[in-house]
Amino acid sequence: MSKTMIALDFSDKESVMTFLDKFQEPVYVKVGMELTYAFGFEMIREIKKRGHQIFLDLKLHDIPNTVKNGMKNLAKLDVDMVNLHAAGGSSMMKAAIEGLNEGAINGKRPLCIAVTQLTSTSQEMMNEELRIAGSVQDTVIAYAKLAKESGLDGVVCSVHEARAIHEACGNDFLTVTPGIRLASDSKDDQKRVATPSFAKEEGCDYIVVGRSITKSEDPFQTYTEIEAIMEGK
Ligand code: C5P
Repeated sequence: MSKTMIALDFSDKESVMTFLDKFQEPVYVKVGMELTYAFGFEMIREIKKRGHQIFLDLKLHDIPNTVKNGMKNLAKLDVDMVNLHAAGGSSMMKAAIEGLNEGAINGKRPLCIAVTQLTSTSQEMMNEELRIAGSVQDTVIAYAKLAKESGLDGVVCSVHEARAIHEACGNDFLTVTPGIRLASDSKDDQKRVATPSFAKEEGCDYIVVGRSITKSEDPFQTYTEIEAIMEGK
């Protein structure tokens, strides 16, 4: 199973399918709001039909009953991973898992991970606008623990947080980390980036890689090189 998730940040369906045609084996892809809201679940089913694994990055956050029913329907799509905002609290997270279990196909529910604090949230914004006291780092760890206690499988986090999260929540608690760049790449709009080797060293379970692969001259080759690092080959 792939440890490298390719972020399909394309604006049209044709580009997605042309891109996926370049891969000679099933890969793990991340599909977010942009594509899902434009092309619906038909595209998700089509990607699954081609044999790929999908992390459906829709970040649910609502009252527990609504999230439960929403998750039940996402599980029926047979996606492999979904997510939500830990800020919805433990009742919402527990309800999400219930919904996923109810919708599970052949008894296997999608993995469910939490967003703790978005990386776009600064210390000042978190304290003054969201009215959460303390440091971002402490909040990230506290939310990760709450997610674990609520039955979730892991969190989305930065490579720089993965070690502390594993120390607080155990090594079985998954860390899924974006912000990855090859040493030779430009950082684009990412502020803090890390290489796949560093992510591996820090114990990240999955890395999310967008432009380093999608904009590569040979995406399959770049993917294969990154995946080999993650698999420790
Ligand atoms: O192209 P790049 O590798 O920067 O893409 C990273 C992907 O991970 C994008 O889909 C982005 O939205 C997502 N992401 C992120 N940082 C977060 C959460 C998600 O870059 N904190």
